[in-house]
Amino acid sequence: MSLIKKAVIPIAGFGTRFLPITKSVPKEMIPILDKPTIHYIVEEAVNSGITDILFVTSKHKKCIEDYFDNFKELENVLELSGNYEMLNIIKDISNMANISFVRQKEQKGLGHAIYHAKAFVGSDPFCVLLGDDLIYNDNKPCLKQLIDIHDDYGGSVIGVQKVDFKDVDKYGIIDGVEVYKDLYEVKNLIEKPHVDHAPSNIAILGRYIISPSIFEFLEEGLVGKGGEIQLTDSILKLLTNEKVYAYNFEGIRYDIGNKLGYLEATIDYALRDNSINRDLTRYLKER
Ligand code: UTP
Repeated sequence: MSLIKKAVIPIAGFGTRFLPITKSVPKEMIPILDKPTIHYIVEEAVNSGITDILFVTSKHKKCIEDYFDNFKELENVLELSGNYEMLNIIKDISNMANISFVRQKEQKGLGHAIYHAKAFVGSDPFCVLLGDDLIYNDNKPCLKQLIDIHDDYGGSVIGVQKVDFKDVDKYGIIDGVEVYKDLYEVKNLIEKPHVDHAPSNIAILGRYIISPSIFEFLEEGLVGKGGEIQLTDSILKLLTNEKVYAYNFEGIRYDIGNKLGYLEATIDYALRDNSINRDLTRYLKER
């Protein structure tokens, strides 16, 4: 049994690529079918053995707190009308994990957001999940794959997959040595490199197991690429004393932070849903 039980999910960003909806609706609450995207992320964490989740949030994201809270009035209505199936679904949402929240008052970057989890994390390695990457694997969740690597090898573990070279400037890119099939020992990390300077096309994709030593470096508040306090800069500093691995996880990854990736996820999740896949397939063929 893994000792990793805590996950941090930063949600304090502005979601500018999804404006105007994100002016008043957090992008994490945009649905794929009938569940907000953040529900799938929490589900992945819970199905990977996580019991405690901290959201690093902001004042614009209150409805996410409500989503994971009890809603007694609604439960009463569902009970009175005999809709027990939905009643159980609604109750389960507020019981998925021990969920807590901390506010990031100023959006200074992902590294700054993660620094807010210092007290929650304590002295054990912890997970980070980013909501922009939705990863489908109905056999073994991506996060569980990384936890298993951590349990075998120790150190920090970053979830990666290869991307097109033309897209490397959108990601943190690793330079590493393959030590086992799909497992790299990281030697360097470059945040959003120009294609001519990219050491590889192996990209960091929103899932991490991180050593608690990271907080010593995050505390320095070094401003990096894009004027933001970057998480990758502090992971790079971990390399001086500790091992950092990158694992090419198995799973279909959707970049739901952009419109096309979001639509692809919506269509694929709908095609996997028995209640609508036949009608949707017919409609898509007609189109
Ligand atoms: P992004 O760089 O994708 O920013 O942040 P964003 O605001 O979510 O979306 P765009 O790019 O403007 O459309 C990566 C993750 O880090 C969180 C975001 O909420 C997202 O989960 N984040 C980013 C914070 O929590 N705080 C920050 O200061 C910056």
